[in-house]
Amino acid sequence: MSVDANVDVAVRRPAYIPMMGGADPIIGHVRVLRRGRTEMQLRLAREHIDVTRFKVALGLEPVWVTSPALAHEVLGTKAASFVKAFGLAVFLRPLLGDGLLTSERETHAKHRKLLAPALAHRRIASYGDLMGERAARTVAAWKDGETLDASEAIMRLTLEIVGKTLFDSEVGGDADVVGEALTEVMERVIGQLSSFVPVPPQVPTPSNLRMRAAIKRLDAVVYRLVRERKASGEDRGDLLGMLLASRYEDGTPMSDRQIRDEAMTMILAGHETTANALAWCLYLLARHPDVRERLEAEVDALGKDAPSAADLERLPLCLAVLKEAMRLYPPAYMVARRATDDVDLVDRSGDEPRVYAIKKGNVVLVNVMGIHRREDLYPEPDRFDPDRFLDKGAAHEHTRCAYLSFGAGPRVCIGNHFALMEGQILLAAITRAARLELTSDAPVVPEPLVTLRPKGGLRVRVHRRC
Ligand code: HEM
Repeated sequence: MSVDANVDVAVRRPAYIPMMGGADPIIGHVRVLRRGRTEMQLRLAREHIDVTRFKVALGLEPVWVTSPALAHEVLGTKAASFVKAFGLAVFLRPLLGDGLLTSERETHAKHRKLLAPALAHRRIASYGDLMGERAARTVAAWKDGETLDASEAIMRLTLEIVGKTLFDSEVGGDADVVGEALTEVMERVIGQLSSFVPVPPQVPTPSNLRMRAAIKRLDAVVYRLVRERKASGEDRGDLLGMLLASRYEDGTPMSDRQIRDEAMTMILAGHETTANALAWCLYLLARHPDVRERLEAEVDALGKDAPSAADLERLPLCLAVLKEAMRLYPPAYMVARRATDDVDLVDRSGDEPRVYAIKKGNVVLVNVMGIHRREDLYPEPDRFDPDRFLDKGAAHEHTRCAYLSFGAGPRVCIGNHFALMEGQILLAAITRAARLELTSDAPVVPEPLVTLRPKGGLRVRVHRRC
């Protein structure tokens, strides 16, 4: 970009950000979004609406961005002018406290630096064997002909894996408590976010009291893990060990509360997203037997039930299926930010740069699911086609922020290598063991809670392959 072009943009009058049609004079778009948020996300892509405003609760008018160029401005180039949006920051705070997902500025930078080594490529490779073993053990228990909710089974498995790998401790036995409490908290959070008058979690409404009780149950599990480790005095080289051993610049250790916040963040961020990504993989594979057969051939060629990190290079289709499933159904379907200054977003993707003025306090929502369904980036965008991620030179590869499953910029997912490795290994282990047939022909619809889940779960019949 030449200096001249920058000057040109600086003097250009900002373009008006249009209000989306169909707003009710009183409640704006609240009802429309409540009934069909994901439909709206897809509609914006279909109708090539790169940027628009909605009218929601409390007179707020969030700006939705369905353009990779503008997403790059928000998440990357101009990231310093944004913080996490009100919704996440306020409503997830009782659950996640000041953990990495919800903290800002210095606290965030300090803790990101502290946690990064635990999730670096080199270190997580050692978790691969365990992921393979746990996955093979889970699927070995599936009986030929039985029906089960694959979504729930995988949620349990990923929770067990995050517990074991990051905390070297068995969360497995507490999986029901944790799973149910997390679901309860998340349903309440999303209920609040999509209501016309959101009530902050501090107000003791019956709903907020139930949420507090659920958080207490979660706290009991996490504080127990911390207590057990402190009592044992062992450093097992996992994340919990690193948190306990870490010191601030003045030499003080992290408080139990801070350790709890980071641990809760990893448990939440580290299992729900991966489990949903895998559930969508299984759904799509069940509906695309041609891809499933190719995948079975790839996995069978390994000749083992429990794949490990060393096998990943021989599973390219597995990785492509995972990425394509997350393109169609991104677990983090929206990424939200709030502007801390007046900031101009500049779209330079067309012949003429276009400038959009965002006022201090405005919320900007990056429409990840919509960007993933743009046909200029992904031809026939609604088609499940993992080969997009095997073919070199595809359109999305040349466009920054065309693929946003893990976000972008300084707040990009710190667990992305972990998630891809886990997804690939689990998918291979499941494919090796069984074919999963959907028990109903009805399409499964996405349910946009904090992450994008298959609504009502994923009922499948097991056909054992070995
Ligand atoms: C398929 C699985 C996953 C998906 C789709 C996913 C997606 C994302 C996205 C989109 C963000 C950025 C959110 C934002 O910018 O507002 C994020 C952040 C984060 N993710 Fe993941 N994630 C996954 C797995 C994991 C795993 C396995 C872990 C931990 C073991 C993890 C831990 C985190 C943390 C701590 C952050 C906050 C990072 C920061 O703000 O510095 N995620 N994730």
